[in-house]
Amino acid sequence: MRALKPVLAASTIALTLITPATVSAHSGATGIVKERMEGFKAAKRSMKNLKGAVRASDFNAIETEATSLNAWFSDLERYFPEGSNAKPSEALDIIWQDFDEFSAIAQQSRDASANLVNAAQSSNQPAAIDAFSDLGASCKACHDDYRE
Ligand code: HEC
Repeated sequence: MRALKPVLAASTIALTLITPATVSAHSGATGIVKERMEGFKAAKRSMKNLKGAVRASDFNAIETEATSLNAWFSDLERYFPEGSNAKPSEALDIIWQDFDEFSAIAQQSRDASANLVNAAQSSNQPAAIDAFSDLGASCKACHDDYRE
């Protein structure tokens, strides 16, 4: 738990203090696009940490990471204002033609991360495995349809 705090703090800073000096894999991204890329990168790191934590039944670490993912997905739509996919964004136009469906997949990520928090709080490893698997499936479902 304690060791993960700096990671969370760092991702919070990345989300709130985006400066021109921030180095990005997608240099050239600015504004909200850059913010959401940072948020998704943090989500990817959380998934990596969760993989080890679920395997090790490290419920404190699971709770920390799943809570941070739940917060990210609870706010996801805010990071996709209409038409915000100028290059180098990989977001597809169909997001805004189909925003209800896009939102429904974000809801699946919210639900799965909330289930993962609950599983961690009740030290239930089988439930944690299921929720982690649902969460991973929700990432893939959205990327398959809405990302280049
Ligand atoms: C509701 C849709 C949706 C869900 C759910 C979703 N993503 Fe994404 N993700 C996107 C879109 C759209 C982009 C492209 C954003 C852009 O380039 O503007 C993206 C981009 C990314 C990127 C690339 C960021 C970068 O630097 O360009 C990563 C990494 C990523 N997502 C990880 C994840 C992980 C991990 C999950 C699940 C825990 C997840 N995503 C769930 C829609 C989603």
